[in-house]
Order: sequence, then structure tokens, then C-alpha cells
Amino acid sequence: GRVLLHQEALPSLPVPPLQQTLDRYLQALQPIISEEEWNHTQELVNEFRRPGGVGERLQKGLERRAKKTENWLSDWWLKTAYLEYRLPVVVHSSPGVVLPKQDFLDRQGQLRFAAKLIEGVLDFKTMIDNETLPVEYMGGKPLCMNQYYQILSSCRIPGPKRDSIVNYAKGKKQSRHITVVHNFQFFELDVYNSDGSPLTTDQLFIQLEKIWNTSLQTNKEPIGILTTNHRNSWAKAYNNLLKDKTNKESVRAIEKSIFTVCLDAPMPRVSEDIYKSRVAAQMLHGGGSRWNSGNRWFDKTLQFIIAEDGSCGLVYEHAPSEGPPIVTLLDHIVEYTKKPELIRSPMIPLPMPKKLRFNITPEIKTDIEKAKQNLNIMVQDLDVKVMVFHQFGKNFPKSEKISPDAFIQQALQLAYYRMYGHACATYESASLRMFRLGRTDTIRSTSVDSLKFVQAMDKPDKSVRISKKRNLLRRATQAHREYADMAIRGNAIDRHLLGLKLQAIEDLVSIPELFMDTAYAVAMHFNLSTSQVPAKTDCVMCFGPVVPDGYGVCYNPMAEHINFAISAFNSCAETNAARMAHYLEKALLDMRMLLQSTPKSKL
Ligand SMILES: *[C@@H]1O[C@H](CO)[C@@H](O)[C@H](O)[C@H]1NC(C)=O
Ligand SMILES: *[C@@H]1O[C@H](CO)[C@@H](O)[C@H](O)[C@H]1NC(C)=O
Ligand SMILES: *[C@@H]1O[C@H](CO)[C@@H](O)[C@H](O)[C@H]1NC(C)=O
Ligand SMILES: *[C@@H]1O[C@H](CO)[C@@H](O)[C@H](O)[C@H]1NC(C)=O
Repeated sequence: GRVLLHQEALPSLPVPPLQQTLDRYLQALQPIISEEEWNHTQELVNEFRRPGGVGERLQKGLERRAKKTENWLSDWWLKTAYLEYRLPVVVHSSPGVVLPKQDFLDRQGQLRFAAKLIEGVLDFKTMIDNETLPVEYMGGKPLCMNQYYQILSSCRIPGPKRDSIVNYAKGKKQSRHITVVHNFQFFELDVYNSDGSPLTTDQLFIQLEKIWNTSLQTNKEPIGILTTNHRNSWAKAYNNLLKDKTNKESVRAIEKSIFTVCLDAPMPRVSEDIYKSRVAAQMLHGGGSRWNSGNRWFDKTLQFIIAEDGSCGLVYEHAPSEGPPIVTLLDHIVEYTKKPELIRSPMIPLPMPKKLRFNITPEIKTDIEKAKQNLNIMVQDLDVKVMVFHQFGKNFPKSEKISPDAFIQQALQLAYYRMYGHACATYESASLRMFRLGRTDTIRSTSVDSLKFVQAMDKPDKSVRISKKRNLLRRATQAHREYADMAIRGNAIDRHLLGLKLQAIEDLVSIPELFMDTAYAVAMHFNLSTSQVPAKTDCVMCFGPVVPDGYGVCYNPMAEHINFAISAFNSCAETNAARMAHYLEKALLDMRMLLQSTPKSKL
């Protein structure tokens, strides 16, 4: 069909030239390690890159792999970054999205909104099913649309060493139902009429009300909490759980469903200024075993969360998709919920949605208790702050002819440097969707130029002139822009280095010293893990840090303001999300002042 033709016309991901990656690797290390370490690493690089050496051999292996596969990276990446990653998906992998608060007048309002949202997703699904989803472009180039075909009707399944993903979007076994969770009880809700048309908002509303009315008491056993566990523990518990036939059928129904809707209980009220941060936590982990963490199935790719108090958003399992397709779907739904409702024909009574039952053996009960304990520790440990930066949005850097993303990244560099007195390895995700089955590479936002800028910024004006600082800022944003352009063209260094390492493992040669080097460990220890996820909706995506002593920072730059979600771990004494938010705000303001304080250059 249409999609296949489009996909086949996309270019394949290139393997970058070996020498280029090694040069750029050395450059990327300069701002984050000492000169002494750098000298040592240079020797290792020289050994690796010499003619006829290990580097060339592995590079040839990669090039062969690229010829044989649709995308030399995608399988490896899916396994390494997701399926073989053993930490819980909660906080450590699954991003959340915070939507603006809805003003429900009552429970009817909540269920009506949920019904409308479901209809909106089904409307989007029609475009996926009939292959009419418009192709997206970046810089005039068509993008790979594959991720859109992976986000509905899919689920992650835990495995003892490696997880897997199932997908029921196509074919005879195509899913027709969604999962609804309320008070920790799961329901299978068929969302299509017998003629194949999707249920209308009115029909969905009545079905949701039936579910509500039969789940007024909170389930004693929050079975969904099992999905928050470490993947190895969960895989064991999963096998145990599925020994029972009823349990197996229930789990399969959840896995097969198109998506999940979580009707959450209200969370404790908090003041206006921390409300959004609290919702971010609710989206990321559900608030703990006492609150809504059991009202989820975290392995489900897509879960929409609608709470009685108007808090809304979603959480998604990261393996099948990056943030942008999720947010595009969300934009579609939000637009859809604003549409006036159509007049509908009279309704045929629908059967009661099926309750998914679970038999809890003592062993399962123990697994649930253990999962609760671990989850509650994780919940206590996550420090998350949503900051709405009101003073300006992307319009300001644009008016200065600076890329808004590059500007924000330099502000992060400045904030971090002011807090810690040094620069750190910084990860920003770059889309590889210009290539078939492309996912991401890394924009290393810390550069020699960014370090020069942040070091100069707070020097007294007498020692470094303002015009000089301004030029350093411009140069740093330019360097970022160049790295970003190079990354989306498939020429960044991170996935290539990973590929060379995995090739060595696959070839059973010993791991080259280059990858055992402390400099490599520092380069891969991302104290700042960041992502720009722009949306039309006034929302923000959020995710946890990727290292114990780092920050996760996600942002959505709107025209006149910027939404930030910053996370850290409470167990690390050196990090603090609110403090980072404060420094970030100051950095953004200082950078604007710097640009505005001298006459515009006469270029
Ligand atoms: C690193 O190498 C350069 C060039 O060989 C040398 O000048 C410099 O002193 C070395 N630095 C350190 C700290 O060893
Ligand atoms: C595909 O779905 C869209 C969205 O619902 C609809 O407008 C369009 O008519 C459908 N096209 C086909 C060919 O079925
Ligand atoms: C659910 O319960 C409420 C209150 O008892 C009732 O008004 C409503 O009709 C019930 N809805 C359904 C669909 O059973
Ligand atoms: C960040 O990374 C560096 C290098 O790995 C480490 O020494 C440092 O303590 C980390 N944390 C912070 C908060 O800077």
C-alpha cells in the first residue's frame, strides 16, 4: 500500500566515516575531561584508527550489516536502549505528558471528556488503518512514519533477559477493544459497533458509566503495580501470574487492547504553584501504591489518564516510539475534543463491558507486596518540577535569528555551569526519521564553544566585554545548530560508536580499549539528559534522569512561553529539580539581557 511505497523510498541510515567520528569524539571530550585524560584518550583513538587496525575491521562489519538490513541500527537500538534495559520502565524509561487542567463540574464531566478523548484516538486510528495519515516533513525531506504504526494495539511483555513487544494493529486478530481501569479494576471495552463503525461519544459515555458503577470499591489487590517492578522480577512474577487461566486471559486482553484509559482517583490537593509538578509525578508513576500507581498497566504502550479532579495527561512505554508521534496524536485528540458534538441517531443498547478478573494466589500476593515496596521507594526518590517560563517564548530567539532550541540548550549549559562550576556530558535527542526506521541519535550540546561562553558569561564586564560575550553566545548556538544538522543527517557520533562496540561484541573480538576508557564512561554519563518535544497543545512531556546524579529536562517551546519539566533524584544530595529550574530561569533572562544590551551587530 501507500505506506509501504513511502517507506521504501526513504534513504537508509548511513554508517558515518570512521575517521570523522573519531575526530568528533575527541572534540566532544574536550569540554568535559581534563587535558591529561584527553591526551590518554587520544592515544587510544590513534591506536584504534590506524590503517589495518581494529577500527577499520569493525567499520567494515558495520558497512556489511548496513547492506544486509533495512536499518543497521534499529534492531540493536531497540534491544540495547529498551528491551534489554532492566530497570523499571516507570520513571527510568516511560515518559509522561501533562495536559492543562480540565474543569469538570462533576463525574459526568470527567466521563464525557474521557468518551470524547477515546473518540478522538479512534478518529486518528482511522487515518492509521486506512493509511491516510499525512506524511511529515523536516527541512523539506519526508520522514519515516513507522512509529505511528507501532503505538496503538501494542504492549511490552517482560522476559527474563530481554523483553519483547506484541502488536495487534493489523490482520485478522486486529484489536477492537480498549482497556479501562478504575479503582485498580480492569475492563475490556469494545469500541466498535457490529457494522465496524466506532462507538460515538454518547455510546462511550454510557459504557464508561457502567464501568464506573460496577467498580465503586477500590480493589484490594492493585495487580497493575506488578508492571512497575524491575524487569527481571516482573518477568518472574509474570510467569507465575499467567499460570492461572483466568489471569492469562485477562492479561492477554490488556496486552491486545488498542490503548488504556485510566480513570484516576483524585490526588491530595496542592497549591497552584506546585500543581503541575504534582501532575507530572502522577503521569510518571501514579503517586505510589496508596494512590494511582495500581491504576495502570505500565507495559501498555499508550495510557491516557483522566482524574476526577481534572488532572489529565498520559504515560507511554518508550520502546515502540519517540515523543513526537505521541504528541502529534495528542494534538489531534485535543483538537478533536474541542469540536462540537454531532447529532446522533438513537442508540442500540450495548452489552456490559467485560470485567477482567484475576485470581490472586499467596505467591502473587507476595509479588504485589514487593512491587509496592519498590515502587514507593522510587516514588519517594523522584524529584520533579514543572516550570512555565513566562517571560518569553521561542519568538524571542527567533527575533534574534537564533534557533530557539540552540538558545534553550545554551541556557541549560549556563545554568549547569553556574551550579557546579564545570560542564557535563549533555544528551539531546535528535530525530533520525529522515531515514527508514530511524529513531534517534545524540546531539552533544556541550561543546568547546558552549564552555567558552559559559565561562565568559559571569566574568566582570571589564575583563570580558559584553560584545565579546554576546559573540561567544552566538557562536555557541551556531555550534549547536551545526551539530544538530549533522545529527539529523545521520552523522553524529553516539550511535556510530555504539555500533562499533556492538560489532566488536558480535564478532567476539575483545572490546577495544577505547570503550573501556574512563573518558568514554564520562562521555556516556549524561548528567543532563534533554529533549525538545514541541506541541501545539500547551502541554509538557516529562521523564526521569538517566544517571543517579543527573537531571532529565524536557521542554515545549511555545510562541510566548516555554514549558519545562525537570527531574532529579532525591537520593542524590547534589541535584535538585527546583534549584535547576531557578538557575535555568535566571540563565534565560540573563541571555536575553546580554543580547539586548548592545546595539545589533552591523553584519
Ligand atoms: C597533552 O599533550 C600535549 C601535546 O603533546 C602536551 O603539550 C601537554 O603538556 C599534555 N598535557 C598534559 C596535561 O599531559
Ligand atoms: C480515512 O480516514 C479519514 C479519517 O477518519 C477519513 O476522513 C477518510 O475518508 C478515510 N479515507 C478512506 C479512503 O477510507
Ligand atoms: C450509574 O449510576 C448512576 C447513579 O446511581 C445512575 O444515575 C446511572 O444511570 C447509572 N448508569 C448506568 C449506565 O448504569
Ligand atoms: C556529573 O558527572 C560527573 C562526571 O561523571 C560527576 O563527577 C559529577 O559528580 C556528576 N554530577 C553532578 C551533579 O555534577
